[in-house]
Amino acid sequence: MKRVSPDAPDRHDPPAAGRAPSPPGTRVLGHARAFQRDPLGFLLTTAQTCGPVARLKLGPLTYHLVSDPTLIAEVLQVRPSNYLRDTRSSRRVRMVTGESLLTSEGTAWRQQRQAVQPIFHHRNLMDLGRTMLTVVDQACVGWERAAATGATLDLVTEMSRLSFAVAGRCLLGAEVQGRVGEVEAAFPVLLDELFRRTSGVANLPLWLPLPRHLAFRRSLAAIHRIVADIIADRRRAGAGSRPATVDLLGLLLQARTEQGALLSDEDLRNHVVTFLLAGHETTASALTWAFALLATAPAELEHVQTELDRVAFDARETGAIETLPQLEQISAVLQETLRLYPSIWIVERRVVETDDLGGWRIPAGSAVVVAPYVVHRQLGRWDQPEVFCPARFRTSEPPLLLRDGYFPFGAGPHTCIGQHFALMEAKVILATLLSRFRVTLLEGALPAPVGGITLRPSAAVPIRVERRRS
Ligand code: HEM
Repeated sequence: MKRVSPDAPDRHDPPAAGRAPSPPGTRVLGHARAFQRDPLGFLLTTAQTCGPVARLKLGPLTYHLVSDPTLIAEVLQVRPSNYLRDTRSSRRVRMVTGESLLTSEGTAWRQQRQAVQPIFHHRNLMDLGRTMLTVVDQACVGWERAAATGATLDLVTEMSRLSFAVAGRCLLGAEVQGRVGEVEAAFPVLLDELFRRTSGVANLPLWLPLPRHLAFRRSLAAIHRIVADIIADRRRAGAGSRPATVDLLGLLLQARTEQGALLSDEDLRNHVVTFLLAGHETTASALTWAFALLATAPAELEHVQTELDRVAFDARETGAIETLPQLEQISAVLQETLRLYPSIWIVERRVVETDDLGGWRIPAGSAVVVAPYVVHRQLGRWDQPEVFCPARFRTSEPPLLLRDGYFPFGAGPHTCIGQHFALMEAKVILATLLSRFRVTLLEGALPAPVGGITLRPSAAVPIRVERRRS
């Protein structure tokens, strides 16, 4: 096919609110093929060649890739009411979560956020952290066995399993362990179909009885049924029988709306499904990359394990939760991992009124995308951006923010509500496993990342584990 620039001009210096530059594309599909073939590489190259704002055509749809932190702040923080989350992707997410924190806007979103925000307060997080320690300690049995037999494990599967065990227990409570397996089985089917629908230019309606549509509908119905049953059981049990440990569902059951009312069953269900959707794969992917990066950087691993020994970290000790803030090496590793591999690698907004970003015209009805993956790897912003170097975060005081080109948890009103929960979970899992085991990658090099719903490795990551100390 002939390669042309879909629209002139194709250059950098901005005329007053002119059309932003565009990379070469084809006349009908624009950049759709290049984007679908290699979304990460295509966006990185586009930002390098076109500058802070680039205009992209995906078939009939116009997107602007914004890659300068000051302009990204305009979109996410300064004028969020002109850049709404009501996009194609969020309409797909709504199929799973219903009207939820991930999909609502305006007053509906604000009321939901206000009702839910308090449950992520520090005191609750400390209680949830204790539960996490217990779950991860119990889950070490599988690694003990693998260390004893020399069996190969797949890091991606292990992190998904562990993060699901933690999410299941912290969200739904200890009593429902049996049913967590059913949710875990149904979830990947939902994520696959969601990704297919967000990345495709056109989609067939879900009511068409294709096998994958039927599987999606069955899985969604299963998750809704299980969560509804758990809520009904908890309501029946009433406040008199509070669970021994704190969990998010218990906290949601006590949460109040602005008007002082308790949340409806439907709201509760949507919140639980939202937290699973937003929190499980994101955390699992960050953990997979963190372990894999550490396994390729012996000096960094040494720093982490020396610190774990120095603070005598032991997940079974009652005081383990209090030692977490002392684990600065692990914090730096997690921050640097999320720089190189931000689980949410791209964020989309719909433009309400025509705007001007950096002298380029952003038309109403088009979409803006900002990609932490791109900004976190920009040459000129980061010294040797491709290199894993946790020291960037060890020495940065105050912590790096969007204005420095760092925003793995987003920015502005929709900043990730679960970021402290996610960081605590990741820290608990890394600290528990690394204090007890040495991890070796069997294939030497890291697999390339793939930009799906989250940033996942393109292949399994086989590892071998050895016992360090009991
Ligand atoms: C490493 C793990 C995680 C990463 C990298 C991450 C990243 C993000 C990002 C970038 C956003 C902003 C999206 C936007 O602006 O459109 C976001 C929003 C959100 N995240 Fe997370 N997240 C993580 C874990 C979690 C967890 C564990 C939960 C829940 C328990 C969660 C719940 C949410 C929710 C509900 C929103 C929407 C907030 C709103 O619009 O008010 N996330 N997350």
